[in-house]
Amino acid sequence: PAHAIARRKRTVLAEPRGFCAGVVRAIAMVEKSLEIHGPPVYVRKEIVHNQYVVASLQRRGARFVDSESDVPEGAVCVFSAHGVSPLVRDNAGARGLRVIDATCPLVSRVHQHARRGARDGRLVLLIGHADHEETQGTYGEAPDRTIVIDTVDDVDRTGLPADTPVTYLTQTTLSVDETAEVIDRIKARFTDVVAPGTDTICYASQNRQNGIKSLASRCDLILVVGARNSSNSLRMVDVARETGTRAHLVPDAADFDETWLKDVWTVGVSSGASVPEILVERLIDRLARLGYDDISTDVTSVEDVNFAVPSFLTTTTAAPP
Ligand code: F3S
Repeated sequence: PAHAIARRKRTVLAEPRGFCAGVVRAIAMVEKSLEIHGPPVYVRKEIVHNQYVVASLQRRGARFVDSESDVPEGAVCVFSAHGVSPLVRDNAGARGLRVIDATCPLVSRVHQHARRGARDGRLVLLIGHADHEETQGTYGEAPDRTIVIDTVDDVDRTGLPADTPVTYLTQTTLSVDETAEVIDRIKARFTDVVAPGTDTICYASQNRQNGIKSLASRCDLILVVGARNSSNSLRMVDVARETGTRAHLVPDAADFDETWLKDVWTVGVSSGASVPEILVERLIDRLARLGYDDISTDVTSVEDVNFAVPSFLTTTTAAPP
């Protein structure tokens, strides 16, 4: 028709995206520790799973180590947002480390549930990935009474009598949807099951995954900015693909492959909970230069969650712990 409008290439940004409250708090705790104690401040593991964040803290004097055993005796040591097992705490104590614990409060709650389950004589079925730091930390609360469950089949493989008293817990970065199948299987397989409270569900993982589903309904391609070792970012890519929409993880704008844009009119962009906005901005710039410069936002929820930094780090008169 004479009045046909040329189709425009578009970018749709998911909101909310990026940093969650636990990540904001953990980064602030390293920054505050550097201010109060001066460099070097040791950080056990990546404070959050993002290289950009790690590198910028490194420039300011944070030293990242793999184990508390690598920290000089008596030095300041921050535990990452993913949490640690009691064994790590004990080891840090024995070395006289001045510990600053940046474990996300939602992860701490899961630890509490694990302790309670074990104390009540239950077997803890921990739904998560055995190689993820968070799962390892929670597992450490009651290693003799915990089994890590990754898939539905793992539930059957436990080989336990049906009347074994169990309690199940999930790694926080998984969402309600993705654990539903495993939980159903646990409830079908066992007769005495205690469920965790809804207070262990991570609002941020759930919201980011909901956002991806909404993007999928209107986009030809979805790009999730996030690190290759970021569990929640990887799950966002999976959620997109499960809807049948093409999706890729983009750790950095430089990793973006232009051939992905073949036959694409609308690109959806989101980012994992450990991703600083600057990495998203770089990708948006690159897309805009490629013609995807009609930019809009798709809001699926409003987040107002804040986790306070412990007061011993914020009061100016604070003495070092
Ligand atoms: Fe905590 Fe959820 Fe973020 S568990 S660190 S708020 S992704």
